[in-house]
Amino acid sequence: MKFLIINGPNLNMLGLREPDIYGKQDFAALEEFIRETCRAEGVEPVLFQSNHEGAIVDAIQAAYGEVDGIVINPAAYTHTSVAILDALKAVRIPAVEVHLSDISKRESFRQISYAGMACIKSFVGLGFEGYRQAILYLKEYLSDKT
Ligand code: DQA
Repeated sequence: MKFLIINGPNLNMLGLREPDIYGKQDFAALEEFIRETCRAEGVEPVLFQSNHEGAIVDAIQAAYGEVDGIVINPAAYTHTSVAILDALKAVRIPAVEVHLSDISKRESFRQISYAGMACIKSFVGLGFEGYRQAILYLKEYLSDKT
């Protein structure tokens, strides 16, 4: 099983960025956590981070026919990007949304998730663990389908 794991804008600034909200661990630690989780679960990860909306759309389109599932934290684009929502809908690859923080308990502009509308499940407010839960959920979902 091959999963594309997408991290959106400013997540590359983890550690430095609002550590009281996003934690003190940096982005390299998050990527290592994801790789380790995938190793333990026998999943092949393709890690992608970008600060650019179009690059994320391109990565989703390029995943068509290449990966079995997508784990996505679109970061700020969660709340603005119909383009990312449409890309997820276009490729119809099962996708799970992750947010380090609990967006449902934050500012009102974070309450809407466009990408989430194309996802089979969301994990919020669990920090790095949310990515592990997403990978496990997706793996189980895809195993049940085969
Ligand atoms: C985030 C939540 C978003 O609202 C924010 O813009 C981010 C990170 C999270 O992981 O909690 O950049 O997606």
